[in-house]
Amino acid sequence: MVEAEKIFSKISKRMKSSIIRELLKDSTNTSIISFGGGAPDPETFDRKALAKLSQKVLLEEYRIALQYGATEGDSLLKDQFIRILKERHEIEGLDYDNMLITVGSQQALDLMGKIFLDEDSYAMVSHPIYLGAASAFRAYGPKFITIDLEDDGLNINQVEDALKKLDEKGEISKLKFIYTVPNFHNPAGVTMSLEKRKALLKLAHKYDVLVLEDDPYGELRYEGEKIPDIYKLANGEGVVLLNTMSKIMSPGIRIGMIAGDKKIVAKAALAKQGADLCTPTFTQRLVARYLEKGTIFDKMAKAVEIYRRKKNVMLDALDKYVKVDGAKWTKPEGGLFIWVTLPEKYDTMKLFEKAKKVGVSYIPGSAFYIDDRVSSNMRLSFCLPPENQIDEGIRRIGKLIRS
Ligand SMILES: Cc1ncc(COP(=O)(O)O)c(C=O)c1O
Repeated sequence: MVEAEKIFSKISKRMKSSIIRELLKDSTNTSIISFGGGAPDPETFDRKALAKLSQKVLLEEYRIALQYGATEGDSLLKDQFIRILKERHEIEGLDYDNMLITVGSQQALDLMGKIFLDEDSYAMVSHPIYLGAASAFRAYGPKFITIDLEDDGLNINQVEDALKKLDEKGEISKLKFIYTVPNFHNPAGVTMSLEKRKALLKLAHKYDVLVLEDDPYGELRYEGEKIPDIYKLANGEGVVLLNTMSKIMSPGIRIGMIAGDKKIVAKAALAKQGADLCTPTFTQRLVARYLEKGTIFDKMAKAVEIYRRKKNVMLDALDKYVKVDGAKWTKPEGGLFIWVTLPEKYDTMKLFEKAKKVGVSYIPGSAFYIDDRVSSNMRLSFCLPPENQIDEGIRRIGKLIRS
C-alpha cells in the first residue's frame, strides 16, 4: 500500500495547518463572539445588485462567463481595475500586460513565492506578518529576514542594516523582495507614513530589491489622510502591487490582481497556468460589470461607516474593560484589526483556550510570527460581530485578563 507520508514533497512538508482556518470554523458558530477571522460584515455585500447582475451575465454573456478564459484575465475587468487605479490612486500608464487577474490576493502571494523564491533565497517581511503571506512564502523554503513594525510602519533602520549586511556578505541578489502591507496592516493595524514609504523605496532602489506591496485594506480608511501607494511613488519602478475585491466587495467572489513589470506579470501568468488555467470567468465578468456601474465606492461609504463605528465601539470597550498596567493597543485609521499588546507575562495562546470557554475568540499573536514565539499579543478583528457583541466580547476578554 502506498504510504502517503513517504512520498509527500518537501514543499508539502513545509506547510503547516493554519490556526486562522481553524478559527474561521468558529466564526460560523453563532454561540461564539468571534474577533478571529478578517471576514467582512455580510451586511456590506451588495447582494441584490449582484443577484440581478449575475443573472444578466449568465444569460447574456454565457459564451464568455461559462467558458475557459485567458490565464492573464478578462480584459473588461482589467479595464475597470486600470480605471480605478488611475482615478483613486493616481496610477497611470498601466497596460493589460502589466496586470494579472488572480483568485484573490492570496493566489497572488503564492505566485510571487513560486516565481521568486528558492531554498537559498531571502524574503524580507514584517514582524508580525500576515499569516497567509508567511504560509505562501514558507512553502518555497526561503530564509526570512524579519523587520519590526512600529506605529508608523516598518523599522527603516533595521531594513537598512539588513540590506547593508546582505550586501557586505555578497548575498544581496538572494534577497528577492521586501513584502509590506503599508495600509492598516494585518494583524498590526498600523499604517506606513509617507516618509517611511519614500525611505523604503530609496533603499530598495539603492540595493535593487523588489518591493511587494499588498494593499487589501487601502479603501477602508475611517480617519486621516490617504497616503500614496508605494507603487505610485515609484512610478511602478521596482514595485509589484497586489490588490483584491475581498474586503470592499466580497471575499467569496475571489477576485484579486497583480500590477507590475510586464516580465514579472508574464512569469506569474505562466505559474498560474499550472495552478488553475484561469480565474473563474463568471466572477471576473460579474465584477467587471459591477465595477462598470460606478457605484461601488458610494456603497463602500456605508460599509466604511459601519466599520468605523465598530472600531470605535471596540476601542471604547478596550478602554473600559482592559484596565491592566502595561497593556496597550493600536488605534487603526482603517482596516479591520486592532493589535493588543499585554504585559509579557501573558501568553495569549493559553488565554485563547479560556476565552473560547467563555464564548469569545481572537487570534493569538504567536500565529503572526515566523518563529512561533510565545506572544502576549492578540489580533482583534472588529468587522464581523454586531456592536453590542463587540462590547460584550471585550468585557469577557477583559475579565479573563484581569483574572
Ligand atoms: C494582508 C492581506 N493580504 C492578502 C489577503 C488575502 O486576501 P484575498 O485572497 O481574499 O484577496 C489578506 C486577507 O485577509 C490580507 O489580510
